[in-house]
Amino acid sequence: MMLPLLLAAFLGTAYGQSVPDTALLIDPRSLLNLEVVPPPSQFNLTNIFLPPGVSEQDASAKPFHVYDDAFLKIIGDNPTLHTIARSEVDPIFHEAVTWYPATDEVFFVQNAGAKAAGTGLAKSNIIQKISLAQVAQVINSSNASAEVDVMLVDPNPPIINSNGATNYRGQIAFTGEGQGNDTAPAIYLMNPVEPYNATILLNNFHGRQFNSPNDLAVNPRNGELYFTDSVYGYYQDFRPALGLPTQVYRLNTDTGALAAVADQFEKPNGITFSPNGSHAYITDTGAGLGFYGYNLSLPASIYRYDVNEDGTFSNRKLFAYASPGIPDGVHCDTEGNVYSGCGDGVHVWNPAGKLIGKIFTGTTAANFRFVGKGRMVITGQTELFYATLAAEGADPVDEF
Ligand SMILES: *[C@@H]1O[C@H](CO)[C@@H](O)[C@H](O)[C@H]1NC(C)=O
Ligand SMILES: *[C@@H]1O[C@H](CO)[C@@H](O)[C@H](O)[C@H]1NC(C)=O
Ligand SMILES: *[C@@H]1O[C@H](CO)[C@@H](O)[C@H](O)[C@H]1NC(C)=O
Ligand SMILES: *[C@@H]1O[C@H](CO)[C@@H](O)[C@H](O)[C@H]1NC(C)=O
Ligand SMILES: *[C@@H]1O[C@H](CO)[C@@H](O)[C@H](O)[C@H]1NC(C)=O
Ligand SMILES: *[C@@H]1O[C@H](CO)[C@@H](O)[C@H](O)[C@H]1NC(C)=O
Ligand SMILES: *[C@@H]1O[C@H](CO)[C@@H](O)[C@H](O)[C@H]1NC(C)=O
Repeated sequence: MMLPLLLAAFLGTAYGQSVPDTALLIDPRSLLNLEVVPPPSQFNLTNIFLPPGVSEQDASAKPFHVYDDAFLKIIGDNPTLHTIARSEVDPIFHEAVTWYPATDEVFFVQNAGAKAAGTGLAKSNIIQKISLAQVAQVINSSNASAEVDVMLVDPNPPIINSNGATNYRGQIAFTGEGQGNDTAPAIYLMNPVEPYNATILLNNFHGRQFNSPNDLAVNPRNGELYFTDSVYGYYQDFRPALGLPTQVYRLNTDTGALAAVADQFEKPNGITFSPNGSHAYITDTGAGLGFYGYNLSLPASIYRYDVNEDGTFSNRKLFAYASPGIPDGVHCDTEGNVYSGCGDGVHVWNPAGKLIGKIFTGTTAANFRFVGKGRMVITGQTELFYATLAAEGADPVDEF
């Protein structure tokens, strides 16, 4: 029989495992019957929900929120979360978090449409990077306000309004959401070292512009690029109304084969694969309407597909509905657990879709990535976070 959680917290153990100082045990049963349950009119996509008796300060002081004992194994004995860089208002820490092992650097992009960034139609967003060697020094230093240097990456030709990225054949592939009517959205490839030369891999579907390609991932079974084509360029006023359904595509850059593999999304967003590539996870941020607010009746959901041997998808099922916020970036660990950036941090589900824990940032965590075993970088718009934990990411880095 397991120890009652409160007693276990007092003893510093749970389920026979020691509970790190940075972990907060949450008994899901304590959430089932709340004293006050506010009406929908008091909700939007930025509310934070905390268990009864837990203040936001408590939640941040112990940012690893354990909903199930399986999460203790994921975080290990000494998980840590640090803010390693900040920006006043410009959302420079948005998405496309990608680790390049050869230099141990991490790339990410500015929000391509946010008003506070001034990007979108007027100018493209930027790509930046940090060094993880410097991160180790910063979090090790006694100076609590020390920050890592954020360095501009300036690809040539420029990658216009980038949003998602992944390692691809020793370089980095990006989605670009396009600009206005005349700069077509594209999938780009960029050299991760100077001179950051870039190439367009794809910029049309049989002569038609994509809407706003959002995120992409390589399937480890066939090495092909799969990407979501969403609507945020339009919902952030820098792209015309949709010219194609919101779909997911696959691209074989060797043969040139390009095919739609999934539709029926409101706003397909993040995409990733299970460790052996037999499942695809795709987030649908339907509830988030960009500059036009939100619609709580639309998805904030993760869908799972079977990936067949021929690379096609079947058996769509609802894997998880997330709250608060919308599940944006999505990645698996090597055990097949599914992580997604939501309104209050990174949520973690086991392969059966049970919420087992959260890395609580207290702010929207649009995306994140495992950057080598036991390390994670999380983009929180105006804050960049670095977590250490026990788990390792499943994303293929060098093989394809
Ligand atoms: C969302 O709701 C919270 C709590 O009611 C409020 O503080 C916040 O300003 C709202 N945010 C937006 C974007 O409407
Ligand atoms: C961190 O600090 C410890 C103790 O001062 C030192 O031994 C270690 O080398 C430092 N690590 C890094 C990555 O700077
Ligand atoms: C601590 O870091 C901040 C931010 O980088 C810097 O301004 C300050 O000078 C540092 N303080 C010390 C004592 O090094
Ligand atoms: C695209 O062109 C159409 C037709 O001229 C125009 O109505 C629309 O505002 C343009 N959209 C953008 C984002 O430039
Ligand atoms: C960048 O240039 C190098 C050297 O010519 C080449 O090997 C690489 O494929 C180029 N990368 C891209 C993305 O164009
Ligand atoms: C992939 O992994 C899943 C889950 O571990 C397993 O059920 C399945 O048999 C594996 N498929 C292949 C082709 O290895
Ligand atoms: C929200 O989305 C639903 C489903 O598409 C739609 O019927 C409803 O009108 C939308 N509500 C608002 C306020 O836009």
